[in-house]
Amino acid sequence: MGKRRAFSRAELPATYHRSVARVFSGVQPSGSLHLGNYLGAFRQWVAMQEEFDCFYCVVDLHSLTVEHDPAELRRKTIETAAGFLAAGVDPERSTLFVQSHVHEHAELAWLMESTIAFGELSRMIQFKEKSAGKSSIRASLFTYPALMASDILLYDTDRVPVGEDQRQHIELTRDAAIRFNGRYGETFVVPEAVLARHAARVMDLQQPSNKMSKSESSPQGTIELLDPPEAVTQKVRRAVTDTDGEVRYDPKRKPGLSNLIELMASVTGRSIEEITSSYSQYGPLKADLAEALVAALDPVRQRYAALMGDPDELAFLLEQGAEKAAGIASKTLARAKEAIGLLPPS
Ligand code: TYM
Repeated sequence: MGKRRAFSRAELPATYHRSVARVFSGVQPSGSLHLGNYLGAFRQWVAMQEEFDCFYCVVDLHSLTVEHDPAELRRKTIETAAGFLAAGVDPERSTLFVQSHVHEHAELAWLMESTIAFGELSRMIQFKEKSAGKSSIRASLFTYPALMASDILLYDTDRVPVGEDQRQHIELTRDAAIRFNGRYGETFVVPEAVLARHAARVMDLQQPSNKMSKSESSPQGTIELLDPPEAVTQKVRRAVTDTDGEVRYDPKRKPGLSNLIELMASVTGRSIEEITSSYSQYGPLKADLAEALVAALDPVRQRYAALMGDPDELAFLLEQGAEKAAGIASKTLARAKEAIGLLPPS
């Protein structure tokens, strides 16, 4: 074996014998962070760092898949990183970094595009939704799940905490990893999705059949992570419900109320049954939910303001994070390149 090779395939099983499981997840720096990101993703991220080796990434390359403004992307990248920390990601325990600072992501994505079939990408619900009715679509919107697979696989990830909307992408990542390992030899750890027990799919408060999202939901239907208490309270108070007046969890027939009940369960840790049996009217449920959300989000908003006041510290943390991430990503990429048949430089 040439002496410049960074690894030998015989070393590979070491990645399977880690005592602590590895976690990876990411958020796009587009639009504003909202309650869906917080309850569906961030809260799991924060809980997982107690137990696991966590990597959390601002996936800026993904934000190039739709129309974007360069200056805004730079600004949102910093803001999103501050959002992670404000939500409770601890840089002493978790590795926080920006995707484009670790070039291996884009490079492994090419190998993934050469592993995943066109037909598989065509079936992605998110691609169908985001491309529907558009006359011009970037090629990267279509190949995006290959980049997402590369994000995850680069870190020998065991668990990926995400909201329900990302489940299909994780399934594709698993299929791609299994296929690659089968064809080219054991290379990747096969990851699994971890979904929040409640609020894995937070719905728009005004259009409860649509999920709350950065781009598509209505301003009144979206609680932003940095909304002041009055705005949170007002949005919850005006949330669309129904007219039958019965407090019952039934997402099909009562999507608006059921969304509020799920939010309450997620934010307070109480069970759905406990919540439905303690209210007989919508008004008090809404009032208590607003109060619980304000109590959860207010400290996040305050920490965010402090973090944005110290951009040098934030830049330092991101630089440190990228260095650590690159140390792992470079090894996995080298392994994958060798396995697929690319000649290592001599
Ligand atoms: P993104 O940026 O759209 O969302 C970030 C995280 O928030 C979750 N989420 C929600 N959860 C519950 N209810 C909602 N209404 C809601 N809206 C968003 C998402 O499921 C996600 O967990 N492709 C990903 C980013 C990504 C990624 C990765 C994630 C890129 N590479 C690797 C995990 C691992 C995305 O666009 O998420």
